This record gives sequence, C-alpha cells and structure tokens, in this order.
Amino acid sequence: MKKILLASIFIGSFAFAQVKGDIQVPDMNYKLKPGKGVETVQANCLMCHTFGYMLNQGKQSKKFWRGKVNKMVNAFKAPIAKKDQDIIVNYLATQYGNGK
Ligand code: HEC
Repeated sequence: MKKILLASIFIGSFAFAQVKGDIQVPDMNYKLKPGKGVETVQANCLMCHTFGYMLNQGKQSKKFWRGKVNKMVNAFKAPIAKKDQDIIVNYLATQYGNGK
C-alpha cells in the first residue's frame, strides 16, 4: 500500500512537472459579427454550445441556416420562440450567408 502511495505521488509529480511551463490552448473565444438580430442569437444559441459551431460552417444559404435552426429546435429541443427563430435565420443568412 505504501509503495503504491509513493508511486502515485511520484507519478503525480512527474505529470505535474510535464505540464509546467507555457501551454498554448486554441483560442475558443468565437465572436459573432455585429448586425441586426445578433442579441437574439446570443440569447438563444449559446446555452448549449459556442458560436464556433455556427462559424465553422462557413458561409451558407438561408435554407441551410433555416435547417440548422429547425434542427436545434426539433432534434435538440432548443426553447426558441418562432419569431426569434426567424430573426436568427435572417441574421445568419445576412452575416454568414452565401447570397442564396
Ligand atoms: C438545446 C441545446 C442547443 C441549442 C439551444 C442550440 N444548439 Fe446548436 N447544437 C446542439 C447540439 C447538441 C449540437 C451538436 C450536434 C452534433 O454533434 O451532431 C449542435 C450543433 C450545431 C451546429 C453544427 C452543425 C450540426 O448540424 O450539428 C450548428 C450550425 C448549430 N448547432 C447552430 C445553432 C444555432 C444557430 C442555434 C441558435 C438558434 C443553436 N445551435 C442552439 C444543441 C443546441
């Protein structure tokens, strides 16, 4: 028992020594572009995940964004009012749209 304890202290301090020093973590501070409806997106789309999920999609059609918002509401039960869903789809199609 004592040996295990000593061993775990040793391993523990070794692991600690390894993480000492500079660690670079990826910057996860995703920011949305300002624009009409951005507050609605902030209020409704941040409760489960970061904006990275949206921003990583790149520029997409309004139909695509409509589909994503519907998926969040229907599949994942995001509690978003119908009128807010429209504001969000318009925001995404305007700021992160491809003109289609
Ligand atoms: C109730 C929780 C919840 C809310 C609120 C929510 N999402 Fe999601 N979203 C998820 C989950 C869970 C995933 C991950 C799905 C996966 O891994 O396949 C996801 C993934 C995504 C993706 C990645 C693509 C995909 O199809 O999986 C996009 C884009 C997205 N969400 C957009 C939004 C937008 C826009 C809003 C606001 C209208 C929103 N989400 C709000 C739960 C939520």
